[in-house]
Amino acid sequence: MQDKVDSILAEITNASAVNQAELEEYRLKFISKKSVIGALFQELKNIPNEQKKDFGIKMNELKQAAQVKFQELIVSANSTNSVESSEHVDLTLPPADGEPGSMHPLNYVRYQIIEVFERIGFNVADGPEIEDDWHNFTALNFPENHPAREMQDTFFIERDPDILLRTHTSNVQTRLMLKQKPPIRSIMPGRVFRNEAISARAHCVFHQVEGLYIDKNVSFVDLKQTLYHFAKEMFGKETKVRYRPSYFPFTEPSAEIDISCQICHGDGCQLCKYTGWVEIAGSGMVDPNVLSNCGIDPEEYTGFAFGMGIERITQLKFRVNDLRLYTENDVRFLKQFRTLH
Ligand code: DAH
Repeated sequence: MQDKVDSILAEITNASAVNQAELEEYRLKFISKKSVIGALFQELKNIPNEQKKDFGIKMNELKQAAQVKFQELIVSANSTNSVESSEHVDLTLPPADGEPGSMHPLNYVRYQIIEVFERIGFNVADGPEIEDDWHNFTALNFPENHPAREMQDTFFIERDPDILLRTHTSNVQTRLMLKQKPPIRSIMPGRVFRNEAISARAHCVFHQVEGLYIDKNVSFVDLKQTLYHFAKEMFGKETKVRYRPSYFPFTEPSAEIDISCQICHGDGCQLCKYTGWVEIAGSGMVDPNVLSNCGIDPEEYTGFAFGMGIERITQLKFRVNDLRLYTENDVRFLKQFRTLH
């Protein structure tokens, strides 16, 4: 008898259970009425009377030890086995209050720009982000030693022949003119890359929308009217527009387009550097050299082009003053655009 008690106690001490099935196995063996301990109690009647009391005490201790171990096994089996414990999750409970995502402000503004131009007959064109030197620079009349070709501005992937990340969406102009006969009337939104240190005012990845209109008799008046229309649609009827002479290798003449400051409405503030005007785009009449580089006869066709930064337009619409906010994915920033769709 004593041997049996000792060996059962040893079994209890060494017992383990990692799931419900093993727990049940333990329960049947040591706890239930038909357990080995239960069977031992049955044998108690065969024990000589003078030993009964001592054995009774030992048997009760054994029963107690089996119970304590059982409780321990229940706790450890539930904590080590997450699949088992997840069976106790109430799947009929309504879901926790999750927050739905919202449109990124840059996407919202991109869609708005596309919509404004689509309504006046422009379609949307696309081009590669990884480009060669010819489509990004040479075809667009950049002189051989132009500073934009230098290492500090351009991310080169390979040299000789040069493969690079496009520095502007103007590369899509080149590709469109090469593959399509005029009339061409397209806008080209996309990502562009420049080797700039990231700060509130500069980023190495940003977005532009390029515009191109090539046909017979396209003049500077068409350029002015188109961008005038865009500014009023995008920023409101009260917005004033001005054209400032400028220089780009691919347009002649070239103009930068300013609108009246959306923050101070002309009174002067930090954003407009107290001038009352902020720049929104570069533009001009497509240089005849660019047309002939791309197989279009400059004697027959003329055209205008423009390029604007989507971050810039978004800054003016939503007063976002730090470019880094667009890419940090801070929900406190993104949440503020929840109502956009
Ligand atoms: N590509 C110019 C830039 O990245 C923007 C630009 C200016 C595009 C004038 C044009 C244009 O098409 O006509 O700064």
